[in-house]
Order: sequence, then structure tokens, then C-alpha cells
Amino acid sequence: MKRIGVVGFGRRIDHVLKNVTKLSDGRVTVVAYHDPSAKAAERVQAAYPGIRSCHSVEEVVTASDVDWVFIGSFNALHSGHAVAALDAGKDVFCEKPVATTREQCMDIVAARKRNPSKQFIVGFVLRYSVFYRTMKEWIEAGRLGQLISMEFNETLSPYHGASMHGNWRRKSEWSGPMIVEKCCHDMDLMLWMTGSQPARVASFGGLTFFKPENAHHNDMYPVGEEGYRYYDRGLATGYAVGDEENITPFNDDKDTIDNQVAIMELENGVHISFHFCMHSAQQERRFYMCGTKGTIRGNVLTGTLEYTPVGWDAKTETIRPIAGDDHGGAEEPMAQDVLDCMLRGAPTPTTLEDGLRASFTCFGIEEARETGAVINMHPYWVDLAKISQ
Ligand SMILES: NC(=O)c1ccc[n+]([C@@H]2O[C@H](COP(=O)([O-])OP(=O)(O)OC[C@H]3O[C@@H](n4cnc5c(N)ncnc54)[C@H](O)[C@@H]3O)[C@@H](O)[C@H]2O)c1
Repeated sequence: MKRIGVVGFGRRIDHVLKNVTKLSDGRVTVVAYHDPSAKAAERVQAAYPGIRSCHSVEEVVTASDVDWVFIGSFNALHSGHAVAALDAGKDVFCEKPVATTREQCMDIVAARKRNPSKQFIVGFVLRYSVFYRTMKEWIEAGRLGQLISMEFNETLSPYHGASMHGNWRRKSEWSGPMIVEKCCHDMDLMLWMTGSQPARVASFGGLTFFKPENAHHNDMYPVGEEGYRYYDRGLATGYAVGDEENITPFNDDKDTIDNQVAIMELENGVHISFHFCMHSAQQERRFYMCGTKGTIRGNVLTGTLEYTPVGWDAKTETIRPIAGDDHGGAEEPMAQDVLDCMLRGAPTPTTLEDGLRASFTCFGIEEARETGAVINMHPYWVDLAKISQ
């Protein structure tokens, strides 16, 4: 039996825990939590009868009946919460991103070194999807040959983007740069698929749509069947249920952006472009990889994965390994792997090191956007190796 304490009990960690406890057959139970939001408390008490509400993070992580700490608080708080949990001798499941600044990465690595026997799982849920696992198998089987270049993207529906611009994610002090908050998943997948890391990056991006002068867009469409105005739907249907100050996405109360592009050259010579937009009427999360022996294209949101070999009369093989949903059918497989790690000590497929590399990649891209310069990533990787030693 493993007992879980939760720090930051919002929408996401609730979803993770429902799957973990459902699959656990009573071998895992949620015993305590800390969340400063009264709204979150009300929801948690109703959904987890008998759970103990704690007044502080410290109270959760030091509780003698807590074995694992699950962290689902705002991004910028993750490292502090993870350090507290590790130093209290607890194993950790931490939602992505593990850290939003280099200093937070250092803190978390130091705590990990002080507590080397503790487990640490990062919630990179997409890695557990059979969709991406099949893509990775195809690459490892040599179907691409040598990867030459690729593009990938993440484009959100307008009301998903709106929800993010109307909740805590609009402020970098809580969420970090938007590339870290939303795209650390994509960077992790790119690092995993290519087996390499960026040598140079450039990036442009900014806030183009979710601004006060575009508020009239919310009046341009009729109220939907669920009774919401178009741009209110995401917040109203709970993209971030713990947040108590959801506001109009067309606010001027933020320092974040809604679109960004990046180009990268990897250490292995592969050339890459990435596109992120928070306002798309055609959502995609697509990988398009061109190799010496074939090409792979896959959009996890439609669940369609295609492979075409190079050659005369080449036929495209199209499979649909998943039905297609936000996370590629990965929620239950992730819950099963988390359980295996918790109950049998099985190694996690998504480690702290994966989390740090994804964050560092995003930090480099953000530096490129902020400065307008092409960033040499070598010092980032030297730095990461140094703090990881
Ligand atoms: N892996 C994924 O696919 C995925 C999907 C969505 C969100 N997330 C991540 O999960 C985390 C939570 O996102 P969410 O969508 O559930 O947001 P949310 O707003 O629903 O939940 C965040 C919770 O943290 C709580 N919180 C704020 N300050 C706190 C503090 N000092 N101590 C403890 N709790 C505190 C809030 O009250 C809220 O209940 C974020 O880091 C986000 O990036 C991951």
C-alpha cells in the first residue's frame, strides 16, 4: 500500500490521481493535501472522502502517513514543492514543467543529490501514448534512415488559448515563459525522437491576439449550445478549476505571449522548425520528419500516423494507433507506469533529467525570442552537466 499526499490539487493532478487510484485496486490511496484555494478544497473534499486538509506544504510532505508526494501546483512553485518533498524523504510525481528558471533547476538537482534513492516521475504524459511510442519504434527500426530535417507544432483551439490567457498562466511569475508552460511537452518529444539536442536556436514570438483591443471578438459569435460565449468556454468548462481569478483572456494584466516560432539546428545536424499558436481553428500537434529512407507524419489530435518510404511506387502506410484525443490516449498507460514505479520500483520513462533537458531547451528558445539573437546552446548544456554532476 502506498499513501499519497498532494500539493496543489487542481484539475490536472485530480485527473492523474483518478486514473492511478482506479487502476491500483486499492493499493494506492490519497490521504492528505494542501491547496490554498477554497474552491479546490470544496471539490477535493467531495471527491476524496476522508482526505485530510493540511495548512501547509510542510505539513503534507512531513506527514508520517505520506509515502509519495504528487505536485500539481503552479509551474513556478514545482521546484520548491519538490525540494521540500525530497528533503522530507518522499518519492515524487511532479507535473511538467519541473522548473521555470535555471535556479529552480539547480535547487531541484541539489535536493535530488541529497536524496538519491528517491523516485522522481515527471508528468510528460504524451511519452506514454502508443501514438508516440509507435513513432519512436518506427524511427528506431530505421524506417526514416538518417533524419535530415523536421517540423513540429502545437496549435490550440481559440477557447483553449483563451482559458490560458484568463487564468494563472497569463503571468510568468506563476507559469514561466509560455514556451516552458505549454511546449515543454513538445520539446521533450523532439529530444526523445531525435536522440539529440539543439546546438543553435533562433525564435520570434509575441502577443498578437489576446489583447484588450480584440475583446469584441467575443461578441462576433452566437452563444454556444452549452450556454457560453465562444472565448469563455475554456474557462467555464474548467481548464483550470483551482484558479479563483479567471478573467477575460483579452486582459492587459499579463506578461505572456500567444504565438511563437523557433528554428533549431541539433548537435547531430538535423534542422528543425517549431510553430506554436494559441488561436487556431484547426488544431494540430504534428510531427513531420524527413529522412534519407522515408518520411513520417503524425498528428496526435487526429490519431493518424503515416509512413512513406523513399522509392518508385512508394505506398503510404497509414495507421491510427489511437482514437485521437488531447493526450493521445496516454492517460491510462501513464497511470499504469506510475503505479509500476510506485508499487514495484520499476524505472520511470520520464525522469527528472528529461524534465531538465526540456526546460533548458525552452530557456534557450526564450532567450532567443527575447534577444533576437541566434543562441549557441553549448553553454546551456555545459551548465546543465555542471549542475547535474
Ligand atoms: N501533463 C499535462 O498534460 C498537464 C496538463 C495540464 C496541466 N499540467 C500542469 O499541472 C499543473 C496544474 O495545472 P492545472 O491545469 O491543474 O491548474 P489548476 O489551476 O487547476 O491547479 C493548480 C492548483 O495549484 C494550487 N496552488 C496555487 N498555489 C499553491 C501553493 N502555494 N501551494 C499549493 N497549491 C497551490 C491552486 O489553488 C490550484 O488548485 C501545472 O503545472 C500545469 O503545467 C500538466
